[in-house]
Amino acid sequence: MDAFDFQPRTRIIFGANQLDHLGDYVSQLKAKRILLVTDPGILKAGHIGRATNALANPSLEWEIFDGVEENPSTATVQQALEVANEFRPDLLIGIGGGSSMDCAKGLNFIYTNGGKMQDYWGKDKATKPMLPMIAIPTTAGTGSETQSFALISDEETHVKMACGDKKAACVMALLDPALTLTQPSTVTSVTGIDAISHALETYVTKPRNAVSLMYSRQAWKYLHASFPKILAEPLHLEARGTMLLGASWAGMAIENSMLGAAHACANPLTARFNIIHGQAIALTLPGVIRFNGEDPKINGWYEELLEVSEIPFDEKNEIAAEVLANWVTEQAHSAKLFTKLRDCSIPLDVLDQLSEDAAKQWTGTFNPRPVKKDDFQTIYESIY
Ligand SMILES: [Fe+2]
Repeated sequence: MDAFDFQPRTRIIFGANQLDHLGDYVSQLKAKRILLVTDPGILKAGHIGRATNALANPSLEWEIFDGVEENPSTATVQQALEVANEFRPDLLIGIGGGSSMDCAKGLNFIYTNGGKMQDYWGKDKATKPMLPMIAIPTTAGTGSETQSFALISDEETHVKMACGDKKAACVMALLDPALTLTQPSTVTSVTGIDAISHALETYVTKPRNAVSLMYSRQAWKYLHASFPKILAEPLHLEARGTMLLGASWAGMAIENSMLGAAHACANPLTARFNIIHGQAIALTLPGVIRFNGEDPKINGWYEELLEVSEIPFDEKNEIAAEVLANWVTEQAHSAKLFTKLRDCSIPLDVLDQLSEDAAKQWTGTFNPRPVKKDDFQTIYESIY
């Protein structure tokens, strides 16, 4: 069995309407000055109003930064820093989708350790202690709440930088499935497929170990069963809850075993063509599963996932990777997402450039099958 070093860092609180108890949780952390980091959609949805109502206590002061955009950039983190420098928080709350949580995490690096975001690209580059942070996801997607990486786009190059540090891990993740009921259906689609990809990729990556496998497997069980339910019935609170747990468990898996080639292929599509992360993943994941499945050992791991799922699978006559890849494509269709590059107005002659970009992605190094520029080209061609 492979060695591992597992240290849970995040208290996880789960339950519908837990947001109303935020004030109690903040007091338990002995915080007095709270900076909420979010996006305008979350503010409009009323979640920030509920959060600040829960913080109504004379001993607490709060401030809001609501300038987070999709794929937060170094410029956005800088704007958040200006608010933080003025307000001097002792606790950060990232509330929203992965973008809000990542922006809060990114802010935490430069607010406490100085410098610029690029200085923290990679792992464990912060030397000084960081502020405690609470993550409150309003989507079941990135799992940012349970892992210590912030994905921040370089404002100039549009390259997504993964900045990770154990100190950046949230002290608390407040998982309130009621907050995920009101999200637009497109958000449910792109975040759900992303969470599914995290469960599937982490199950096969090179650093997989006993801990990550436990989280990946359970995340997969929750996500594959709940995703069709929430597409059909968006107000299904029970299914929203298992989606949210699945996304968080997948985040725990990422923390312990990283991601793979589907993310390496997806990131250049976002950087060059501004394709939303989950949509990019819906395009790339089936191709990468098929590529990985050519290795019988990896195909066997996919078979294990099918065995614990409700997906029909005839192990004597079917190839696990093929069944799994087809299932992902079916889900993407149900979620009204594109499944071919050509449908996203991507010209055929950029595949060479995209392959070159993908081959430079750090996340590709964790893929179970070595994947070079030519392999990325083959994968992109297979999903064109
Ligand atoms: Fe992802």
